[in-house]
Amino acid sequence: MEIIVLPDADAVANAAAGIIQARVERGPAVLGLATGSTPLGTYRELIRRHREEGLSFADAQAFTLDEYLGLPADHPESYRSVIRREFTDSVDFADGAVRSIDGQAEDPEQEALRYDAEIAAAGGVDVQLLGIGTDGHIGFNEPMSSLASRTRIKTLTEQTRRDNARFFPSIDEVPHHVITQGLGTIREARHLLLLGLGEPKALAIAAAVEGPIAANCPASALQLHPHTTVLVDAAAASRLEHTEYYQYTHAQKPAWQRY
Ligand code: GLP
Repeated sequence: MEIIVLPDADAVANAAAGIIQARVERGPAVLGLATGSTPLGTYRELIRRHREEGLSFADAQAFTLDEYLGLPADHPESYRSVIRREFTDSVDFADGAVRSIDGQAEDPEQEALRYDAEIAAAGGVDVQLLGIGTDGHIGFNEPMSSLASRTRIKTLTEQTRRDNARFFPSIDEVPHHVITQGLGTIREARHLLLLGLGEPKALAIAAAVEGPIAANCPASALQLHPHTTVLVDAAAASRLEHTEYYQYTHAQKPAWQRY
């Protein structure tokens, strides 16, 4: 894991946008896109680079990470809508290049299998952007998710429903069930980019990065991945034990070594 501690959320957004831009400019890229508030700054910065510096996504494809079960695709809080509103509609992805899970599929189990097959048919994900839940979840893989899991239906914890209630008129409207890419699916992406912002994420980041690999912190599965970059602001890094070493490593990073 490469752990980069940055002063604030803007610095994290800038660094994440830089990594995504570098991959998009190397040739046709498949991006994995996360929702939640954490990646919003990154999306804003990518939109700015598109508008002001000509960064183009015309040759790129994208897959969202997860979806609420039962929300119509055009519901404002479906992750299909959110990702389009916050990012992809504001840049130049080709028609049909942004794929999402159908939260209203007649057969959700079949939809999950179909989605994994669609990702595989696109050649897999090149860069997967990830936030982290306060309970250590990535995507919607709640604690005790199998570290080898595939895209499937999950039940949200009450903690996650409470955390996400701010996006809905009331907690009663937060769905109980979701379809999420599994931890095994996510780990097949070639480069994982985990972002953590703010003090409420500090314990989850510490468990994910420095704790044991354990199903009770799903993000710790990233330790098994050969190419993971963790970008955190100072508050999210506040429970890490080895911050000095991470800062030293970053300062010594050879100019030839890319992210
Ligand atoms: C949701 C999403 C996750 C996201 C998490 C954290 O549960 N499924 O992908 O990482 O929220 O959200 P936030 O970034 O708003 O804290």
